[in-house]
Amino acid sequence: MLNRLKRLPFTPLQIAMHLYAWSALVLLIFDFFTHHLTANPIQAMEQRTGRHAITLLVMSLACTPLNNLFGWRELIKRRRALGLYAVMYATIHVIIFMDLDFGLAWSLIIQTVIQKWYILFGMTAFLMLIPLAITSFDVWKARLGKNWKRLHQIIYFIAPIAVLHYAISKKGDIFRLQGDIVRPLIYALVIIILLILRLPFIRRFFASFRTRILLPFSRPNPQPKMDTDVGAG
Ligand code: HEM
Repeated sequence: MLNRLKRLPFTPLQIAMHLYAWSALVLLIFDFFTHHLTANPIQAMEQRTGRHAITLLVMSLACTPLNNLFGWRELIKRRRALGLYAVMYATIHVIIFMDLDFGLAWSLIIQTVIQKWYILFGMTAFLMLIPLAITSFDVWKARLGKNWKRLHQIIYFIAPIAVLHYAISKKGDIFRLQGDIVRPLIYALVIIILLILRLPFIRRFFASFRTRILLPFSRPNPQPKMDTDVGAG
């Protein structure tokens, strides 16, 4: 059984990732045509695509720390696709906003960006994601050299901005943890944890913990390399 799995052109993780990534779009199209998108379908589409974009973004951010913690190297190979899926959903999200919601009325769109903080944050996050998506391919990695890593580190700046966009778009009481504010706060907490896990001394601690405690019980695999790359790539 295990041998047969190994011979498949895709790994189970790869299949799960692609299925999860496309599921939101398939469901959205299905619900659109079967009229299951609430009384305000445009808002429902904006919200669903926005949530999927941010979830995929956080998943791509989690790949490196999880590999460093558990030595699961395959996650590094999936990071770029997750990041690109996040950008794909963010683009659909923005197109829905600009076209379906605002009918491409540019002056009104610009006015809204200036007037509403959450839209300004969303726009900032989106504009910063684009160069990351374009340069996520190997050809750019080779061309940019060391600067590639530097550029892709801005993902740790983009993710909190996207969460701010999410949090401000919601109504709720941040001090009583009530209302719709709870979900964006969970995303914020996960991002903070992922950032903490990247701190050099925390990484060293987990690397030595893995070597001393976990490796003696695991199969005699070579010790996985610590990965330092970040971003949509
Ligand atoms: C030009 C850029 C963007 C614009 C104009 C924009 C616009 C919007 C709008 C209009 C909403 C719906 C608010 C509501 O009525 O409930 C929304 C929600 C949201 N957006 Fe964006 N957005 C942008 C970029 C992004 C990006 C880059 C991300 C994530 C990577 C994102 C994630 C979200 C999330 C998570 C929500 C909340 C979904 C929910 O209510 O459950 N947005 N955005």
